[in-house]
Amino acid sequence: MEILDGKIASQAVKEALKQEVSLLKTSGKRAPHLVAILVGNNGASETYVASKVKNCAEIGFESTLIRLEETVAEAELLATIEKANTDDNVDGILVQLPLPKQISEQKVIEAINPKKDVDGFHPVSVGKLVQGLETFIPATPYGIMLMLEHYNIPTKGKHAVVIGRSNIVGRPMSVLLSSNHPYGNCTVTICHSQTANLKEICLQGDIIVAALGRAEFVKADMVKPGAVVIDVGITRVEDASAKKGYRIKGDVAFDEVAPKASYITPVPGGVGLMTIAGLLKNTLQAYKSR
Ligand code: GUN
Repeated sequence: MEILDGKIASQAVKEALKQEVSLLKTSGKRAPHLVAILVGNNGASETYVASKVKNCAEIGFESTLIRLEETVAEAELLATIEKANTDDNVDGILVQLPLPKQISEQKVIEAINPKKDVDGFHPVSVGKLVQGLETFIPATPYGIMLMLEHYNIPTKGKHAVVIGRSNIVGRPMSVLLSSNHPYGNCTVTICHSQTANLKEICLQGDIIVAALGRAEFVKADMVKPGAVVIDVGITRVEDASAKKGYRIKGDVAFDEVAPKASYITPVPGGVGLMTIAGLLKNTLQAYKSR
């Protein structure tokens, strides 16, 4: 069993980006600029956005964090997005999800200029992805593809089982793995909450992508020996003995699954770090195409 180390793989991506930004700056150009909008005080969202901003700084990107109150009106958020849409110094815009209940996530996603949609959630971006056109790939599936590339994991002709059909991970992941791409060309099965024989299907997976958001859901008896196991889960599980009062758990029961797997991503230290790498790559792409 080999660990797919998100720290190593994301560092490699970030190093390449850093060099590219450095070249841009020495030729007198401005740096790529990401605007992140955070509504409210959701603990996990705070952590993710802080990490995105920090990573921008590490590789020489400019970033602006816009914070809005939990009670903000939808119209104010939409106006904030519109300002960033028309600001020539802004390349990428992301609104951290989830949003408070008075705000329509769909309206917000559709308000972002597709040319600045570095999350790849706009229907224009999703449509292009499905048609195999160049677009912004949602950061988590993009990060997973970068991880497969970094470790040169063969995917052609393999059976990939994706657990979870979210717009953010499962669905775009299934599209990418089935695409005609050096790390695609899989036969893909998507499992979800209504799947009848999930265990039997998982056992057929040469590659399993667990993205359902339930701590330690994938057990050893669901995994074929030698499978590649990609764990997307980041669930906070209460634990009084932990310093923060919780521990981060993946969707895979790591200790029992790891000995059966050929490759496995840890949580933390796996896919989460690659998500940021994907976002940074999208931001540079947005910068270059404007
Ligand atoms: N919430 C969970 N994942 C994501 C993500 O990739 N982007 C945004 N904007 N919100 C999220």
